[in-house]
Amino acid sequence: MSKTIQIHDKYFELFISEEKIKTRVQALGAEIAQQYADKNPLFVGILNGAFLFTADLVRACPIKSEVTFLKVQSYEGLKSTGTVTTLLDFQQDIKDRHLILVEDIIDTGTTFFHLLPTIQAKHPASIAIASLLRKPTAIKHPITVDFVGFDIPNKFVIGYGLDYNEQARNLPAIYKLIDG
Ligand code: IMP
Ligand code: MG
Repeated sequence: MSKTIQIHDKYFELFISEEKIKTRVQALGAEIAQQYADKNPLFVGILNGAFLFTADLVRACPIKSEVTFLKVQSYEGLKSTGTVTTLLDFQQDIKDRHLILVEDIIDTGTTFFHLLPTIQAKHPASIAIASLLRKPTAIKHPITVDFVGFDIPNKFVIGYGLDYNEQARNLPAIYKLIDG
């Protein structure tokens, strides 16, 4: 099977294999399990992008925990819009809870720059961020990421939850845009 794929008008090539993702997610889950063993953390998956990573991360983390989701939107097509809209908010009280925010990718940092103060205002016991991917050279707002899967170059990527105009979230591996 060809490793180059077309989504809408763009071509993408295999970047991080299913196997590499799996190995890294298992390691992150084990690390979180060690640090949160007695804390009953609340995993907060950020929809839509983090739905697969959240599902795999919680299964790789064999401790008492809970899972919920927030839905925010900051991207259109290939670019961050610079504004963040909350489409689905917490359904439960997060006061005094240990939160682990689970993201697919930290790109400019805009999403968390806007989201973190609104979450902090609800007085959780702690907030940590777990992001499968991070683009260190794209960052505009410094964000401390506690658990990072992979640091990647500033290229547009899809698959394993990440989309290009809503397509390609179901790919089990991560693909990057072929430039030019
Ligand atoms: P930020 O707010 O700029 O950090 O961007 C975060 C959000 O933009 C992520 O949660 C993704 O949903 C989306 N995003 C950023 N980079 C990419 C990419 O390379 N491919 C697909 N979505 C991306
Ligand atoms: Mg996202």
